[in-house]
Amino acid sequence: MGAGIAEVLARGDLAVVGIEVNADALERGRGHLERSTGRAVKRGRLTEEGQREILDRITLSVDFTDLGECDLVIEAVPERLDLKRRVFAELDRVCRDDAVLASNTSSLSVTDIAVTTGRPTKIVGVHFFNPAPVMKLVEVIRTVLTEPEAVERVAALVDGLGKTAVTIGDRAGFVANRLLFGYLNQAATMLESGHATRDDIDTAMKAGAGLPMGPFALMDLIGLDTCLEILEAVHAESRDRRHAPSPALRERVTAGLLGRKSGHGFYVHDGQGSPDEPAEHDAETPAPIVGVLGTGPLADAVAAHCGRAGGQVRTTAAELGDCDLVIECAQDAEAGRALLVAAAESAKEGAVLAVTSATVPVIEQAMATGRPGDVVGLHLPEADGTLAEIAATVVTAPGVADRAAALAGRLGLTTVRCRDRAGFIVDALRFPYLNDAAAMLGAGYAGADAIDAAMTLGCGYPSGPIADLDRLGLDRAVTVLRALYAETRDPAFAPTPLLAEHVTAARPLR
Ligand SMILES: NC(=O)c1ccc[n+]([C@@H]2O[C@H](COP(=O)([O-])OP(=O)(O)OC[C@H]3O[C@@H](n4cnc5c(N)ncnc54)[C@H](O)[C@@H]3O)[C@@H](O)[C@H]2O)c1
Repeated sequence: MGAGIAEVLARGDLAVVGIEVNADALERGRGHLERSTGRAVKRGRLTEEGQREILDRITLSVDFTDLGECDLVIEAVPERLDLKRRVFAELDRVCRDDAVLASNTSSLSVTDIAVTTGRPTKIVGVHFFNPAPVMKLVEVIRTVLTEPEAVERVAALVDGLGKTAVTIGDRAGFVANRLLFGYLNQAATMLESGHATRDDIDTAMKAGAGLPMGPFALMDLIGLDTCLEILEAVHAESRDRRHAPSPALRERVTAGLLGRKSGHGFYVHDGQGSPDEPAEHDAETPAPIVGVLGTGPLADAVAAHCGRAGGQVRTTAAELGDCDLVIECAQDAEAGRALLVAAAESAKEGAVLAVTSATVPVIEQAMATGRPGDVVGLHLPEADGTLAEIAATVVTAPGVADRAAALAGRLGLTTVRCRDRAGFIVDALRFPYLNDAAAMLGAGYAGADAIDAAMTLGCGYPSGPIADLDRLGLDRAVTVLRALYAETRDPAFAPTPLLAEHVTAARPLR
């Protein structure tokens, strides 16, 4: 990180002094800088002259007194509080009195570092993301002791480097890691509980929530030891059991399965490519006859999708006789149950009956019909999306969920399996994350733009959580969260007051 940050600063025309612990480490740093800028030259993004200028702006040294004239020092030593405190004591001694001292810590408290220096008003956090030359987000952390001018100077400098500075308070994980790791740990807990498989969870979050990577692929990329370290730090402050590292994570770290860097984490990385690509459905098999029951946007979207996929669509209970699959798309659970009961009476033997609501247990709906063995949950996290989550209940007859998945596949949908639990996979993982973001906003910890920038620029999300909440609908968020809360009784799943308030006021968050 140190070399990456030095490169960013030198690219911004600033003179940089890079300090390492010894000559060998200094040579490693020099090699890092040469390779990184060399790659930019090879890709035609930098001239050789430009590269020379950047490298010439960086003076490398093992002598801390060379930092004496610096306006700003950014510390990026390993993530240990004792070490950081020792380094800051040394910086405090050698740096000018008006110099601002910053830590690139990911998860330690900046205040903990600041209080042991003789200049706590000039200590800030500047959290770059890896790789620093590429990633646009920098979280700038002010403690309760930091003087406003120091924060403003650092944020202005970051913006001047072509990055986006997001200024926030000193809370473990800041914005991006706090939100991201709560979600990643919940995915690990979901795996641990047997709710769904690794591949189904990863596929669901890509195909259903539009994320570039599933949570297990991402944890393997970050490194499971780093994930564990960040979760421990966040949990130490939040005491939220959702941040207590899942045994599925800890067990792997103990076993040395650290992700890509060790060749094995949640996946085996043997160069054979990611095993979680969804299977292609057989285009030769004719599309099925589908009953789509209900009125409203979901029913319309499902009927339109089935029609586009070449399926024959029936929309009234009287026409269901030849349907292979009947999908109940009512707007509320009570209406859905009535439609399902009617469908169970008229659909042919062997037809699959599917319930779309993810907020009422499928089993409740199934037991109201005379043929619960034929009922599965079939949840479409995005009405016009391509993911179908299929949940079998304890009484779903053998083979019925397979048949549902095959039929959905023939309709061009990517399918994943899970148990009959609130939110299935996608909603169960994304709404608690969105709730956490809304709670941050409600607490005034960060603004809507800052929170959205943290997740898009820092974590590669296609859109930020506040924008996601407004797009998905706050009433839907509250409904799913209430269902999750009712099932788990975990207070962290209860909708944050800001959400409930905006639903009542019928106002989006922005
Ligand atoms: N790796 C990431 O993805 C990432 C992202 C954001 C922030 N961070 C944070 O950045 C910091 C550094 O992380 P990293 O991954 O680059 O670690 P690293 O272990 O790769 O590098 C740390 C460097 O600090 C040097 N060092 C150790 N003691 C020193 C001392 N007393 N004086 C000067 N240099 C010393 C080491 O020789 C090493 O080169 C940590 O606080 C980490 O949490 C890391």
